[in-house]
Amino acid sequence: VSLKQYNTFSFDYQAEYLAEVTSQNELSEALLWANSNHLPVTVLGGGSNLLICGDVSGLVIVNKLQGRALCESSQDYAVVEFAAGEVWHQCVEWAVMQGLGGIENLALIPGSAGAAPVQNIGAYGVEIKDTLLSVCVVDRRSLELLELNAEQCGFGYRDSLFKTDWKDRYIITSIKLKLSKHPELALSYGGLGNLLDADASIKEVFDCVCKIRKEKLPDPNVLPNSGSFFKNPIVTHEHYSRLKGAYPNIVAFEQEGGWKLAAGWLNDRAGWRGYTDQGVGVYEKQALVLVNFECSKADALLDLEAKIQRSVEELFNVTLEREPVLIGQAQ
Ligand code: EPU
Repeated sequence: VSLKQYNTFSFDYQAEYLAEVTSQNELSEALLWANSNHLPVTVLGGGSNLLICGDVSGLVIVNKLQGRALCESSQDYAVVEFAAGEVWHQCVEWAVMQGLGGIENLALIPGSAGAAPVQNIGAYGVEIKDTLLSVCVVDRRSLELLELNAEQCGFGYRDSLFKTDWKDRYIITSIKLKLSKHPELALSYGGLGNLLDADASIKEVFDCVCKIRKEKLPDPNVLPNSGSFFKNPIVTHEHYSRLKGAYPNIVAFEQEGGWKLAAGWLNDRAGWRGYTDQGVGVYEKQALVLVNFECSKADALLDLEAKIQRSVEELFNVTLEREPVLIGQAQ
């Protein structure tokens, strides 16, 4: 089965077997079948943070579990549950329409609700971990259902245990968020504060974020991509001072223990913005986003990744780490 329609880079590799599951029962059946046939299982959500670089053996499960529910509601808060296969942006819109705040800055992030905690999605100063209460999962081997607290998930910048220790252990079935009925807006990042009044509504924040993202980031349906291709690297104070001396315009944000550099700026300064070669390239408006113009395989993109990493290393002595998850063969 071709995986082309299941990854936003549109790379055309094969899955040995593929099952789209829309209910817990179908998910359990698919897992039982794979386990009894000793097949490895790979789970996909929206495919928007994925780099497939080879055929995938075993069973690919496309998680399409559906459902959005208001679980609890008090004067100040509401707890909502989103099934893993729901489209994340639609969940955000649903919450905003009900006046529930906390995730409006995360509008238009591509992908599914279930994929959101895996890399702790974030934008405009907000991360999903800020409102996440728990993640419901099924254990791949025992088929046991568990609810993991946010604290257990080891969240970091674009990182969680779902990406590392738990990679082959759990499948996310739903997420629970605690949203506020009296939201405090997060406007300090990415120029939101200049575009919005401090007493803006969450709908206005939502609309503003949508507008900025549409201007800056390519729509994967039009130009295949996976959003930011590299994480913003974190360097020491000393390293940052040296860079700042050499490049006074460098864009960076102070962090506990160091500085987070805008990798888009580094790539841009290194001359990569708008570069194209062998059917892939660097987006002309955001040098952190790699795009696929016409390739069916990932080789040219992996080449480009290596070239960018080398040049950024040479110029700034900074190592860029890939953001999307690699599947297919090990590279
Ligand atoms: N910049 C340049 N040239 C470029 C790109 C960026 O000079 O080609 C500069 C910008 O002018 C800006 C700074 O770099 O001053 C940061 O750029 P931007 O605001 O676009 O954000 P980013 O740090 O590149 C991060 C996230 C995005 C998220 C935005 C907004 C990561 C890896 N990326 O990008 O997340 O939407 O902030 O909060 O943290 C994603 O993860 O896929 C993603 C798109």
